[in-house]
Amino acid sequence: MPSRMGWFLVGFFGAIALIAIGGYLFISAGGVPMATSAAPLPLERTIARMALHASFKAAQDDKDPLPVTDANLTAGATVFHDYCAVCHGTPGAKPDAIAAGMFPDPPQLLQSRDMVTDDPEGITHWVVTNGIRLSGMPAFAKTLSDTQRWQVTMLVAHADKLPPPALTIVSSSSPCAR
Ligand code: HEC
Repeated sequence: MPSRMGWFLVGFFGAIALIAIGGYLFISAGGVPMATSAAPLPLERTIARMALHASFKAAQDDKDPLPVTDANLTAGATVFHDYCAVCHGTPGAKPDAIAAGMFPDPPQLLQSRDMVTDDPEGITHWVVTNGIRLSGMPAFAKTLSDTQRWQVTMLVAHADKLPPPALTIVSSSSPCAR
């Protein structure tokens, strides 16, 4: 006859095994849809936001080492045009077919509703450098120089007051059909 401790251990590990088997059956029966077009799971956005905040928290005080000049904003506009506009859009235009088909939606960073002009620039730089797992947001650590990542960070941080040359460059992005 097992002792009280013995019964406790049987119950404890039995419960863990049941949860593991239940989880396996739930997922293998299609309980977690992986279709981009499927509706979000309960709490999916909340959990993803929590995990994201915990990941980039340490970067929030990082400061852009570059001075805010028209030259840096124009360089940032070229980076945005080439690497970001397909998902993050152009001023005044509807999301293109790629952006409209994604989950989660890529925020339209040059439209006032979605701008990140109030976000700490260290966070934007972290997101551009490391990407956001399971969202479609790429990591650019290996493909853009740190200077280019700070320049595009500066561009989106000043999205509400871009000088005309930078605005012309980002407005000319039309990477894919709408
Ligand atoms: C293939 C599509 C894609 C490309 C290309 C892309 N992103 Fe993203 N990005 C996303 C998605 C999707 C999200 C939203 C992720 C989420 O909701 O968690 C995102 C999120 C972000 C965010 C966070 C916005 C917020 O509201 O917190 C920033 C900043 C960002 N991207 C900047 C950029 C920059 C700058 C570039 C170009 C160097 C870029 N992204 C290229 C898809 C993309």
